[in-house]
Amino acid sequence: MTETAPQTVTTERHDDVLVAIVDNPPVNALSWHVREGILNAVEELQRDDSLKAMVLRCAGATYIAGADITEFATGMKGPDLNSVINAMESSPKPVIAAIHGTALGGGLETTLGAHYRIAVPSAKLGVPEVKLGLLPGAGGTQRLPRLVGVALAAEMASGGAPISAAKAKEAGLVDELAGETSLAEDAIAFARAKIAKGPRPTRDLPIAPDADAINALKTANARKWRGFDAPYANLACVEAATRLPFDEGMTFERAEFMKLMMGTQSAAQRHIFFAERKASKIDGIAKDVALRPVAKIGIIGAGTMGGGIAMNFLSKGLPVTMIETAQEALDRGVATIRKNYESTAAKGRMTSEQVEGAMGLLSTALDLTELADCDLIIEAVYENMEVKKEIFTKLDAIAKDSAILASNTSYLDIDEIASVTSCPENVLGLHFFSPANVMKLLEVVRGAKTADDVLATAMAVAKKIGKVAVVAGVCHGFIGNRMLTPRQVEAMNLLMEGATPQQIDKVHVEFGMPMGPFQMSDLAGVDIGWHRDPARIESIRDALCAEGRFGQKTGAGFYDYDDKRNPSPSARVQAIIDEFAAKSGKPKRDISDEEIIERTLYPMVNEGAKILAEGKAQRASDVDVVWIYGYGWPVYRGGPMFWADLEGADKIVAGLEKHGLEVAPLLKEKAETKGRFN
Ligand code: 3HC
Repeated sequence: MTETAPQTVTTERHDDVLVAIVDNPPVNALSWHVREGILNAVEELQRDDSLKAMVLRCAGATYIAGADITEFATGMKGPDLNSVINAMESSPKPVIAAIHGTALGGGLETTLGAHYRIAVPSAKLGVPEVKLGLLPGAGGTQRLPRLVGVALAAEMASGGAPISAAKAKEAGLVDELAGETSLAEDAIAFARAKIAKGPRPTRDLPIAPDADAINALKTANARKWRGFDAPYANLACVEAATRLPFDEGMTFERAEFMKLMMGTQSAAQRHIFFAERKASKIDGIAKDVALRPVAKIGIIGAGTMGGGIAMNFLSKGLPVTMIETAQEALDRGVATIRKNYESTAAKGRMTSEQVEGAMGLLSTALDLTELADCDLIIEAVYENMEVKKEIFTKLDAIAKDSAILASNTSYLDIDEIASVTSCPENVLGLHFFSPANVMKLLEVVRGAKTADDVLATAMAVAKKIGKVAVVAGVCHGFIGNRMLTPRQVEAMNLLMEGATPQQIDKVHVEFGMPMGPFQMSDLAGVDIGWHRDPARIESIRDALCAEGRFGQKTGAGFYDYDDKRNPSPSARVQAIIDEFAAKSGKPKRDISDEEIIERTLYPMVNEGAKILAEGKAQRASDVDVVWIYGYGWPVYRGGPMFWADLEGADKIVAGLEKHGLEVAPLLKEKAETKGRFN
């Protein structure tokens, strides 16, 4: 080793017990110097006859949270993790892992290389690699089932969710629970108690097959795992552990790990891991900007959006005052919120006390003046500039000086809304996605005059209510909906040229989207933004709306629906399409799936490039985050801009040009310079 290792692992001697302490903030990831440090500690243990056992524990907030993911892209150096874990496991003197915080991924694998595990009750243990498109590649798939059985190991590896220390103790993953604040001392005493017993290598433990458990997981998750490679690779490795000797199982695991690591799915999922974290950072704002306190929320509008938005705050213990113009609308809104909470409780995901707790924080009023003491007021009425301006004019007179005034508009100009107030610096957009209590994305729209502390506070509030927030600039549709428009335009054009709604939707679903453009239209409402004049029929959509085909809610849209909302292709819709196609004079032809991709997804990338060039998104990865969390773009494809990098800008430009579609200057530049967005 030529580079001097930073001192991230130190050792302490406590008579006959050596304690190795990892200190590599923020999450004690297994960077090369940590691996080297642990290996050195194991060697120190062997060198000194007076030492009889070793404890591996961590400083800071958590036990080792995994491999250092940043090394996956930059390359590894120093000892690999398998040799470190093998050294621990082969130690003739017992090695004990002492766990607090989260022992995740490679971190959990080090505990499996130890002979015994002690944990504080609040600790969590898991192998989340699947969420990065990977599998626990340092023996996790081989050792975990030997300790906890195939069923639990398969569930943990393929799902990625951590388990509590109590459950780990019950399953045999943790041998002893320490006091919450006395782990350091308890671990030494525990180690001493194991000296006489000697080491217990996990690799030597017996293992029994359980094909039923593995098959049951596959069946239960068939929908959720559609398109993903990693959950299946995890299961294949756990299954291999039951039929191969340990070393052969390790070889199997290695091969599967490398396949995933070299593939595009894991690259995409790792990209999103960092993209999600980067999205919360606002360029050009001081890190230490003082945030405004947000303790009381006002929401104007008790419809689907207003109610969904309110639930985010109520669930986190923040009081909400909801405003409507009529008592019936308020009553309906409150009843819907209660119904939603109660259905969550019925599924066992909330207690009835929690339901009552949340409902107890909700108050309602018919008068905007009730919002005078709110710190954050979110307007969520229907999309009409005049109505919104009227509300903001009133709010300007009512709200306290420090209040943040937000509009949940999905398309309208935040600056125009802000212009009617005397405090445009307090105004911004908070664009929630429907259903607002479920969807993780929040577009935080920064107006021309929005103050830095207002923006930073909005991002912090978003984090508090569990949203992934992305900063967007003011433009029609912001980031997400703006990119939806060119997709929708081309999807309609394709209908006129011979494609069917079901063909286009199928291509999108096979690509990995939860639904295609027409299924989405039917779900959201074909009538959104419709001019509401049945006599004015200028497009296929106008014709559908004129017949009351508003989508699922009216039993018919681009598809026909039965009483259980199952769709089937509609002869009536095809007749309408044919009529418009005939009028357009364009000949009908067979449209290939490839053309559908080129004409519906490439224009999205093109719009993304325009958004970036105009500075309406801070970075390409933010655009990706919007599409993953707001629209269900398959995470294994990393978002539209990451996908564009995989496709290659030159291929996308050629595709757009072939179909006579717009090519943005930034996209063209990427194609010419072989540049990437991410
Ligand atoms: N490697 C490198 N950096 C990491 C990291 C890791 N494994 N885990 C977290 N970080 C970084 C984050 O990027 C973030 O950096 P930033 O401050 O510059 O944005 C910082 O650490 C703090 O992370 P969070 O904001 O996520 O902090 P939280 O306290 O909310 O969560 C956590 C902590 C639960 C540990 C969460 O970070 C997490 O889930 N990390 C990933 C865990 C994981 O996936 N481990 C498996 C790695 S793969 C592996 O081990 C392969 C092996 O089997 C061979």
